[in-house]
Amino acid sequence: MNVMIIGSGGREHTLAWKLAQSPRVSGLYCIPGNGGTQGIAKSADIAVNDFKALAGFVKEKNIEFTVVGPEIRLAEGIVDYFMEEGLAIFGPDRKSAQLEGSKVFSKNFMKNHNIPTAKFEVFEASAEAYSYIEKAGEDGFSVVVKADGLAAGKGVIVCDSKQEAVAGVKRIMEAREFEGAGDRIVIEEKLKGEEASMMAFCDGETIVSMVPSQDHKQVYDGDRGPNTGGMGAYAPAPVITKEVYKKVRTRVFDNFLKGIKKDNINFKGIVYAGIMVDKGEVNVLEFNVRFGDPETQVVLPLLKTDIVEILKAVMDGRLKDIDIEWDSRSCVCVVIASGGYPGKYEKGKLITGIAEADSIDNLNVFQAGTRKNGGIKNSGGRVLGVTGVADSLQGAIDLAYKGVSKIKFDDMYYRKDIGWKGILGGQASIS
Ligand code: AMP
Ligand code: GLY
Repeated sequence: MNVMIIGSGGREHTLAWKLAQSPRVSGLYCIPGNGGTQGIAKSADIAVNDFKALAGFVKEKNIEFTVVGPEIRLAEGIVDYFMEEGLAIFGPDRKSAQLEGSKVFSKNFMKNHNIPTAKFEVFEASAEAYSYIEKAGEDGFSVVVKADGLAAGKGVIVCDSKQEAVAGVKRIMEAREFEGAGDRIVIEEKLKGEEASMMAFCDGETIVSMVPSQDHKQVYDGDRGPNTGGMGAYAPAPVITKEVYKKVRTRVFDNFLKGIKKDNINFKGIVYAGIMVDKGEVNVLEFNVRFGDPETQVVLPLLKTDIVEILKAVMDGRLKDIDIEWDSRSCVCVVIASGGYPGKYEKGKLITGIAEADSIDNLNVFQAGTRKNGGIKNSGGRVLGVTGVADSLQGAIDLAYKGVSKIKFDDMYYRKDIGWKGILGGQASIS
């Protein structure tokens, strides 16, 4: 069968790589794709927000189903459009996508369905937000101010003083830094603890968890510096112990299922719960409605079951009928970025060593911001995800960094400590 992927990041290269391993897939398309997907999937010159043209392409190429990477297309309703055209597509519809696309919708959903999350208030005018901040006690004041919409992962401002909170409200609601996402804000209690990413398959009736993973959001070693799209990840993440997983299962996933049924949300796709774990207790920081990036790079290499079977079971509402098997080894992805990212950086530098790294056993180089143009060149902030699988977390770390050592381009930058929290932690489990 032919399958199409929408997107151009490391996540999409990983999806293409995994789909290409399925004996059922004979042709792959990735639109727009990147320098890495080009080796295994065809591209086409179609704008990814032109759903009519995409649907026409699917019909022309006899594509059996489409997998959507980025949240923005889901929020725009690509799934609704394809369904109306009678085309199979993996991902939640527009209504379901609000669980990621609107912080207010998502927080209210959690509150209404007893999903543990930070206490919060919603504001539609900056004056009310200022007065709320003003009236709060000074002692240990710390809040998180969130713009109510997709802001490319940037609309969340963590504040440790009243001045910072006021400045955050100003940036979102008055300076309109995130445009329409500044019509409303959520101000919530700042939580302490360690973060983990729990992705799961959901067909509206059943939720099946993937292995827990952990992202490294900050740009510098030791989790310092500004947040990025993710500088690396590893799985499984030991912070999700058996006991913690039980809480995620019952309080988060089971309540999520009850909630979507009660609210008539026809959710089919990936539920990604960003979890804060503190002394064994769990709180949901956010829901995403798609595969994480770079979490996908470390989770899919551990998936033993044919991914086509799973994606089709989700789309057909048969998830409870299939067994999903996971490799018990560890996987680590080190992101190589363009120097300067998440700020300004230069593009067009020639990258060497990808093939040499890729040829190492159990190692894959997933490409993100790359373009093929007389060789592979960097074209984005996050450029490559060098990903190793080994029996132990330390083994996977060593393997991934061995791959990194083969790769060179001017100004390349990567964190040297991906996986460190996992080494300090205990034994991970989802069973
Ligand atoms: P979100 O997009 O809502 O997950 O927020 C992005 C990042 O901001 C999270 O991954 C956390 O690092 C941080 N964050 C969000 N909400 C909170 C919170 N209530 N307490 C502490 N950190 C938070
Ligand atoms: N790694 C964070 C995300 O995919 O949103």
